[in-house]
Amino acid sequence: MAKLLRGFRDLFEEEAAKLTEVEKAARKIFKIYGAKELRLPTLELKEIFIKATGQTTDIVQKEMYAFEDGGGRLVAMRPEGTPGVARAYIENNFQANPLQKFFYIGNMFRAERPQAGRYREFEQIGLEYIGNAAPAADAEVILMLKEIFEKLGVKNYKVKINSIGCKECRPKFRQDLIEFFSSQKDNLCEKCQTRLEVNPLRVLDCKIDGPKFTNAPRQTLCPTCQKHFDEVKKYLDGKVPFEVDPCLVRGLDYYTKTVFEFQADINGAQNALAAGGRYDDLISSMGGPKVPAVGWALGAERVAQAAAFEEIKKESIFVVSVEESANNYAFDILQNLRKKGLTADGGLFDKNLKAQMKQANRANANFAIIVGGNEVAKNTVILKNLISGEQKEIALAELFTAFEVK
Ligand code: HAM
Repeated sequence: MAKLLRGFRDLFEEEAAKLTEVEKAARKIFKIYGAKELRLPTLELKEIFIKATGQTTDIVQKEMYAFEDGGGRLVAMRPEGTPGVARAYIENNFQANPLQKFFYIGNMFRAERPQAGRYREFEQIGLEYIGNAAPAADAEVILMLKEIFEKLGVKNYKVKINSIGCKECRPKFRQDLIEFFSSQKDNLCEKCQTRLEVNPLRVLDCKIDGPKFTNAPRQTLCPTCQKHFDEVKKYLDGKVPFEVDPCLVRGLDYYTKTVFEFQADINGAQNALAAGGRYDDLISSMGGPKVPAVGWALGAERVAQAAAFEEIKKESIFVVSVEESANNYAFDILQNLRKKGLTADGGLFDKNLKAQMKQANRANANFAIIVGGNEVAKNTVILKNLISGEQKEIALAELFTAFEVK
């Protein structure tokens, strides 16, 4: 039996329409902020994610859909968009223009354990602002996200921010954490015991261990990172409510300085609606120029779920012909309705009235237009409201006005 893969989904009408609404809202904000679309390939060399996302991350260690292609290349389905943007930036010499904002919309793949709101194929809408090291850039991208959420009526979310420092100040913090957690190893969850040496920062945001160790060491930022963080906060003050969370560390290796998450205020584990941060060393570490960058990605399905959509209006008309002599007349009406931009269907003219009306109901049409020889002769149609059941004969010329008036 044909069967869907675990963690993958078919998205039908309403769910698909909601994702489109999220995309539309994001596109509007991207336009205002001058971000340009970048359509990235789904498949990249696996090493790009190993280098960028990071060897020690859960994504690279166990969640990638990676395989050898027919040509013996090790490739991976993209688990996130940032490494692809960095690769495209380097390959296309985008640094010729020092300031660039790119956005992307596309499906990502992670072999995670499926849960509500956590899928193995999901859509991300992402934004990468490359070339601006100033704290104003961090604030700007955070505010873009806030504006998208506002457009979509997403409420009850929290913005958490933190600074995880840079190459200068992070090694000491890392070492402090290793020392602290090594003395507590037996109290750590199984995952954190293995994480401890490779990625001790992740212990802080572990759902099990994070809250247990409130006395864990905290990051001491170097003066440059501290100044940067203070300025980001100053820019955001009064524009978006945010919380500084010293345990917010993010699960990807490339971040420097500012990291942030927009979290839904709901019970349950899957609460990150969007997340991002600064990654000043990523592009140079991938063989490109030394350019600073900051960005984020939102999970389109999660945001769609948190959004307050007005009921997506469906207005559709089903055209029915009850006599062969009226078929051409009916067909022209059908095509004219479509030309006017109305959603119209029908054309089952080889079926009787009952069968055509049954299909009109199945298709969830809210109006039927019924014609026969009489209507052709008088140049009229019968317009039936399928919700109220009311029907009336109107002149063909009035048909479009009838819909505009309604
Ligand atoms: P991320 O935190 O891995 O960051 O993912 C961003 C968002 O994608 C999450 O907050 C969540 O809404 C959504 N998401 C992640 N995994 C899943 C899943 N399995 N199912 C459904 N939604 C999911 C990144 O990917 C970075 N590239 C963000 C970034 C861009 N940082 C800088 N630039």
